[in-house]
Amino acid sequence: MAYFSFRACCGFMRRFNDYNLIAPIYDLLGKLVYRGALHQSQLHFLSELPKGKSILIIGGGTGRIIQPVLELAQPSALYYLEMSGKMIALSQNRLKGLSDHPVQFIHGTQDSLAPNLKFDVVITPFFFDQFTYFRLAKIFLQLNQHCEPGSYWVWSDFVTPKKAYHRFLMKLMIWFFKASTNLDTDQVYDIYPVFELRNWKCLRKAPYFDGFIETALFQKQS
Ligand SMILES: C[S@@+](CC[C@H](N)C(=O)[O-])C[C@H]1O[C@@H](n2cnc3c(N)ncnc32)[C@H](O)[C@@H]1O
Repeated sequence: MAYFSFRACCGFMRRFNDYNLIAPIYDLLGKLVYRGALHQSQLHFLSELPKGKSILIIGGGTGRIIQPVLELAQPSALYYLEMSGKMIALSQNRLKGLSDHPVQFIHGTQDSLAPNLKFDVVITPFFFDQFTYFRLAKIFLQLNQHCEPGSYWVWSDFVTPKKAYHRFLMKLMIWFFKASTNLDTDQVYDIYPVFELRNWKCLRKAPYFDGFIETALFQKQS
């Protein structure tokens, strides 16, 4: 608590990872810098997911991922959990005119999920790379409680930069997102051990943008 209060004060009392300010330009920025790799990486494993299941998307942003998930995974229920009110509004706009869809929007965080809700698939698109290691591990554990053995997890994030121009881009992004969203971290972390520790097996992974972006499909083991 004391740690949180200290950090909150440093952020001039703004909450962390607040995307309301940049929501209208977020997709455009991503397209300009990463030429579609952000979106493409999130779609990589969608066609391999079992159909007719219950899916959670957390931190989905403007909702560009919703339509592909509906088409490729044909979920029975799709929970769209977003902390930013502006992002939720943009996402809801995309479904205007569609009367019959299984999407339930939840304006909140991992703490807003009813404890008894279970998901067959969890999708975290560029979500974990916003947090300190302590925070991301804690959120992972919370989401893990909503999954039974056999569940799938589609993860996509930036990874530790290994090339000079990736390091430059990482510095630029951290500077930009600190200023615009009060980003909660100074670096990205290796997420694989976090999954492995809780018995999630990486089935396959794929690199994007010359290895600066990674996506992976995990399955929870019994
Ligand atoms: C880096 S953006 C990624 C947006 C989108 N997935 C994409 O790739 O275009 C992170 C998103 O996570 C949301 N977010 C941050 N913390 C969250 C939390 N604890 N629970 C739910 N959403 C959160 C932000 O509002 C933002 O829309």
